[in-house]
Amino acid sequence: MKALILSGGKGSRLYPLTYTNAKQLIPVANKPVLFRVIEAVRDAGITEIGIVIGNDENGRRVQDAVGQGRRWGVDITYIPQDAPLGLAHCVAIAQDFLGSERFVMFLGDNVIEGGISNLIRGFEQSDYDCQIVLKEVEEPQHYGVAELNPDRSIKRLVEKPREPRSNLALVGIYMFNEHVHEAVRQITPSWRGELEITDAIQWLVEQGLNVHPYIHRGWWIDTGKPIDMLAANSKVLEELTPEVQGFVDRSSDVDERVTVEAGAEIVNSVVRGPTIIGENTRIANSYVGPFTSIYHDCVVENAEIEHSLILEHSSIVDVPARITDSLIGRNVELSHSQLKPRALKLTLGDNSRLGLI
Ligand code: G1P
Repeated sequence: MKALILSGGKGSRLYPLTYTNAKQLIPVANKPVLFRVIEAVRDAGITEIGIVIGNDENGRRVQDAVGQGRRWGVDITYIPQDAPLGLAHCVAIAQDFLGSERFVMFLGDNVIEGGISNLIRGFEQSDYDCQIVLKEVEEPQHYGVAELNPDRSIKRLVEKPREPRSNLALVGIYMFNEHVHEAVRQITPSWRGELEITDAIQWLVEQGLNVHPYIHRGWWIDTGKPIDMLAANSKVLEELTPEVQGFVDRSSDVDERVTVEAGAEIVNSVVRGPTIIGENTRIANSYVGPFTSIYHDCVVENAEIEHSLILEHSSIVDVPARITDSLIGRNVELSHSQLKPRALKLTLGDNSRLGLI
C-alpha cells in the first residue's frame, strides 16, 4: 500500500505566517503538522509516500524540511501541482506514482487523534474499494457531507452542501483502490472550479462499488485558521507523555504535565502544563500557562504567556501584559518599548493582528 499526502495550498487564512512558510510546516506541540501525518502513515506500515506540493516557494520549503524521508525510514516522491485544482486533481497527477496499488490519501494539514494507523492497515486487508472517515461536526456545510442509509451504507456524498442532510463530515483521510482513477476521469469541476474528491467517491458509490464509511469518535481538526492551530496544539499537548530533558532550577515551579526538551532552561519561573518548552529555549522570571508550545531557540523573560503557539528563534522579554490565545511566528521580538513619552513601537507584517489592552 502507498500513501499520498497533500501539502499544497496558500494557507491564506494563516497569513502572515504562511507568507514565509507552508501551513503544513507550522508545528503543533513542537512538531510540524505534516511530520505528524508522515508518522501516522509510517506507523501504518507504509514506506512509499508521494507528497503533492505547490509549484512555488512553499512547495520548496516542504521539500527542504522533509527531504527524502530517511529520518522516518520512508521513501518520498514529490509531485508538483501547478495550480490548486482540487483533491481529485491531486490523485490524477499522482497516477504514475500510485500505479494500481491501494493507497491512503491524507490531507497534510489535518490533525487527528492517535489510532488512525490501525484503520489504514485494516483497509489493506479488506475487500473495500474505498474507505472514508466521517466525523460528526457542528457546521457540516463547510465540509464534504455524507448521508447514510438506515443500514449505515452510503446514500450520497455532497461537497459543501448549502443544506446538509446530515452532520457527518468527510475527514481528510481517504483510502482507495485502483477504481478511483476512473472516477477522477469521469467527474467535472465543481462551482469552485476544483475537481472534488467527494464527487469522485460519489461516482464510486453510483457504480455500486464497495465504499465503506468509518465513523471516527475521537477528535479531528482541519487546521485552516489560527484558532484551529491553537485547538490542535491543545489536543496534541494533552496526548503527549511529558518528559524533562532540559534544566529546571530549584526556584521554579514546573508541574508534571510539562515537557522540557533538551538544552531548554527554566529559571525562577512557573510553568503549568500541558505545555512544551523547546530545545535551547530559555524561560526566566516568567509564567507559562497551560496549552502553550514554545519552539526551539526562544527566550521568554519577565513575561507571562498561556494558550499560545510560539515558533522558533522568537523572544518575549519584559512584556507588561499577559499574552494569551496568540500565534507568534519565527524570529519575532516582543519587548518593552523604551520610548518617551510612552508609546508603542511596532513593525508588523502584512495581515498581522494585534490585540492591545
Ligand atoms: C476538503 C474536502 C472536504 C473535506 C475537507 C476536510 O475541503 O473537499 O470534502 O471535508 O477537505 O478537511 P477543503 O479543505 O478543500 O475546503
